[in-house]
Amino acid sequence: MTAVDFLPDDKQTTPAMPPPPSSLPDDASADSTINGNGAPSATHKRLEGKVAIVTGGALGIGEAIVRAFVSHGATVVVADIDATGGEALEAALGPEVCTYVHCDVSEGADVERAVGRTLERHGRLDVLCNNAGVLGRQTRGANSIASLDVAEFDRVLRVNALGAALAMKHAARAMVPRRAGSIVSVASVAGVLGGLGPHAYTASKHALVGLTKNVACELGEHGIRVNCISPFGVATPMLVNAWRQGGDASSAPSQDEVEKMEEMVRGLATLKGPTLRAGDIAEAALFLASDESRYVSGHNLVVDGGVTTSRNVIGL
Ligand SMILES: NC(=O)c1ccc[n+]([C@@H]2O[C@H](COP(=O)([O-])OP(=O)(O)OC[C@H]3O[C@@H](n4cnc5c(N)ncnc54)[C@H](O)[C@@H]3O)[C@@H](O)[C@H]2O)c1
Repeated sequence: MTAVDFLPDDKQTTPAMPPPPSSLPDDASADSTINGNGAPSATHKRLEGKVAIVTGGALGIGEAIVRAFVSHGATVVVADIDATGGEALEAALGPEVCTYVHCDVSEGADVERAVGRTLERHGRLDVLCNNAGVLGRQTRGANSIASLDVAEFDRVLRVNALGAALAMKHAARAMVPRRAGSIVSVASVAGVLGGLGPHAYTASKHALVGLTKNVACELGEHGIRVNCISPFGVATPMLVNAWRQGGDASSAPSQDEVEKMEEMVRGLATLKGPTLRAGDIAEAALFLASDESRYVSGHNLVVDGGVTTSRNVIGL
């Protein structure tokens, strides 16, 4: 509340708006309206001229992030293990703005090669988006800590936590000399609250949120921002497959399955009305990748409609 709030209506004057900071480009304060799917307004492309890597960008949330980044003027390298999806996306968006490179993020050599190829081809790296992730087994009972599957736990941690750390390592080597860059990781509400995913997944996402804060601390010295996003449920292949009862986990979700999953998520959400979609996570990634968030670092941007911050115990 400001002093102006205390004045009676007839004494109110419209406070003068301060001019935009001079270090922002002229069009940074212009219309940045987006159409809900990450598409830019005619006047303002938020990642114009930037080079980005999106891991796990072939499908699901990652694909939405790639599409949003490209539509906002970025050149994107999709680093994924899914060659079919990655090559299809490259063909759809055009190889001049989107290229696929095979990369298993849990393998240091793959990650080093993906960053190396990006630098060879584009000469720089402005944005790293660590989106690749796996849920691990979701079956009730098989998830008991008393029957912990060490190999499964290791696999999930290797992809979700080590994979992000390896990508940060090689991205940092490219970004530090230029004293600029933005690293955005896709964590999860399971990195905020217990009970929203299997043990290994929850541990891996808590690790990713912690890693984000620690690396932000180190790389802030070099002008590099490090943030993460924590989505609630989005009806991607990952989530739909997890809830299939003995179904074929490898086939693409049907429209009916997507709608049922979205209905379930809407039912669990605190915020009623909108349906959380991959495009909403892409919007958050765009904000954190772009210069609009130039003073935001070490932050976990939770995109959950309030699920992890409140529970209506007293019937409000
Ligand atoms: N869908 C949700 O409800 C939800 C919620 C919170 C967080 N997330 C997180 O969002 C991210 C994307 O999830 P999604 O739902 O789109 O999943 P998805 O399974 O639909 O897509 C994941 C993508 O990552 C790729 N991938 C998997 N393992 C990889 C590896 N080792 N190396 C490189 N690429 C790999 C896959 O090939 C695929 O393209 C994940 O990190 C996930 O944990 C998802």
